[in-house]
Amino acid sequence: METTSSEQYIEEIKRIKAEKNAIILAHYYQTGDIQDIADFVGDSLALAQKAASTAADIILFAGVKFMAETAKLLSPSKKVLLPDMMAGCSLADSCKADEFEKFIAENPGRIVVSYVNTTAEIKALSDIICTSSNAVQIIESIPEKEKIIFAPDRNLGNYVLNKTGRDIVIWNGTCHVHEEFSLEAIIRLKKENPDAKIIVHPECELPVRLIADFIGSTSSLLQFTKKDKGKCYIVATEAGIIHQMKKENPDKMYIPAPPIDSTCGCSECSFMKLITIEKIYNCLKNEIPEITIEKSILYKAQKPIRRMMEISEKLGL
Ligand code: 13P
Ligand code: SF4
Repeated sequence: METTSSEQYIEEIKRIKAEKNAIILAHYYQTGDIQDIADFVGDSLALAQKAASTAADIILFAGVKFMAETAKLLSPSKKVLLPDMMAGCSLADSCKADEFEKFIAENPGRIVVSYVNTTAEIKALSDIICTSSNAVQIIESIPEKEKIIFAPDRNLGNYVLNKTGRDIVIWNGTCHVHEEFSLEAIIRLKKENPDAKIIVHPECELPVRLIADFIGSTSSLLQFTKKDKGKCYIVATEAGIIHQMKKENPDKMYIPAPPIDSTCGCSECSFMKLITIEKIYNCLKNEIPEITIEKSILYKAQKPIRRMMEISEKLGL
């Protein structure tokens, strides 16, 4: 194609998808246009479940690298494509395999629970994986007598520790979007909109979690706004989720919580936003870039992720 409009790209994407038996899985933090062309939109857990169960030959992941790697771990025989390999994650980057190995050695005898927002190398060093939707239940599934290591998000770790009261040592990692929300700005917004409910992702810092009316993963936040009788929400997570909230309940009001430095646009994940419709088109057409995971890592990383899937299924999550 020469000069191509967004509509033309979308038409071509639909055609190639059908021709190649491909599926597009998109995270809630993608832009609205990408969410709208996806076959399935969800949070990390729902996307992993979809990747594990799809009959498609090709999975194009509109999200970040750890999510596409998770899809590959769960469906290794399928071709998994990520339209931009630079779509990483500041949280996954905050936990390097050599340093994590040392951390595990310094805290021996503990069950290693890692958040899905990690590289395949970190998963390979873990006993069990969790997402923000099932972190509390995964910790609770571990026998009481066991001590735990939780990595890499210190805020989610702290949230889970408070909920379960378990003996947990926590890796000191954070997400550049969720740690940046301004408590002062959220309080100011609440004063201006006294009926608004503050809804918060557990990756946010403690002061923001303390003023929340509801805390949950992206899909739980969406469910909350669907079921709740309120009319206005201050949303402290990546702003992409508001697209689905508006689709579900267009008559309600959603105010994105502002970051401390509002010039940096931090309430958007810069990694997620690297994916564009044009890149999706090129990626589907050329079938690159493709996710590959070295066999020795793949085998080790599959075990903890499968454990998470089994527990989630048993619990109906
Ligand atoms: P969810 O588990 O809510 O999808 O969160 C993923 C993520 O990257 C949060 O920043
Ligand atoms: Fe990673 Fe944060 Fe982006 Fe989620 S929002 S993908 S944790 S950098």
